[in-house]
Amino acid sequence: SEILRVGIAGLGTVGASVVRLLDSRRNALALRTGRAIQVTAVSARDKTRDRGIDLSGVEWYDDPVALAASPDIDLFVELIGGEGGAAKAAVETALATGKHVVTANKALIAHHGRALAELAEEKGVALAFEASVAGGIPIIKTVKEGLAGNTITRIYGILNGTCNYILTRMEKDGDSFSKCLKQAQKLGYAEADPTFDIGGYDTAHKLTILTALAFGVNVNIDAVYVEGIDKIDAIDIRMARKLGYRIKLLGVAERSDSGIEQRVHPTMVPSDSPIARIMGVTNAVTIQSDAVDELTLSGPGAGGDATASAVLADIADVASGAVGRPFGPPVATLGRAIQEPIKRH
Ligand code: NDP
Ligand code: HSE
Repeated sequence: SEILRVGIAGLGTVGASVVRLLDSRRNALALRTGRAIQVTAVSARDKTRDRGIDLSGVEWYDDPVALAASPDIDLFVELIGGEGGAAKAAVETALATGKHVVTANKALIAHHGRALAELAEEKGVALAFEASVAGGIPIIKTVKEGLAGNTITRIYGILNGTCNYILTRMEKDGDSFSKCLKQAQKLGYAEADPTFDIGGYDTAHKLTILTALAFGVNVNIDAVYVEGIDKIDAIDIRMARKLGYRIKLLGVAERSDSGIEQRVHPTMVPSDSPIARIMGVTNAVTIQSDAVDELTLSGPGAGGDATASAVLADIADVASGAVGRPFGPPVATLGRAIQEPIKRH
């Protein structure tokens, strides 16, 4: 069968790991999918930077939109980030020109998922975003495919590795908020603008993607109540501990009388509860549904290789020809998350 020609835009924490893992798993992936997968073109800002990856024989593009438009790729992998700008322009171009798209960009999907999914459906190509929620945890597949026979009533969890890392280190090591944030940035966990992490917006992006898949509604970031951890001090963590609690940043979506309620805020959870024991960069998602009752998945929520694992799963799906609709049902048939947010910072 023909080679799947892959173009990757963005060679940072996630992009460099994807190139490395694709290379080292080349044979296993070809055997599994029945098709050789080859990175034929890449794009990033700085051509001269040593990224610790072998790009010999790979075509370089300064402009990711030009890469997305190239007739020499079959699949465009977007690992630049950001709700709009180059990432959005390139993904739109790739879909419009009939390429499959894989992305880790939750901001893009949370804001423009509906329009992009419509375009992908119209063109009959994939728009896959497993890596956009909870890093290495295959939560999108679990909700979209594994629980397809369930009616989900509630989905909640720790969806931001940076915040959980900060809260853990503040409690365990007594380090300051700013020191912990700097360390999370150094480890490659944080967003380019970490306000998205600590302000709760990244969790909101992820939550609204899970909501769309779990409840059959369109992504609607404006319907999410958002409060971050930026006002949490060491004293809050100590007081919570004294009372037998831990503070966790949770994203919660559930059915209510008025529709689907979506909220993100720091929450006091009993210290002996399973969610309180999720420490460091780990994420955890609990899904409550009629047939399965309750299911929890936990694992690394950020970091290069863990996130690349999710990107590779999507690439393998495209190579195998498993090109489902982005949100399951046709996007035009999806309803709305009804309620307005209660409060927004
Ligand atoms: P990085 O900041 O490490 O990498 C971004 C890459 O995009 C860099 O290689 C940069 O180029 C390139 N880039 C930026 N702007 C442009 C542009 N205009 N044209 C071409 N290339 C550009 O980000 P991450 O790898 O951390 O994140 C990538 C995506 O993955 C984001 O959407 C993020 O939210 C998501 N994600 C990240 C996770 C993580 O743990 N880091 C986990 C899950 C999802 P250069 O290197 O030359 O500066
Ligand atoms: N900044 C994000 C986090 C990356 O810390 O969870 C993973 O989506």
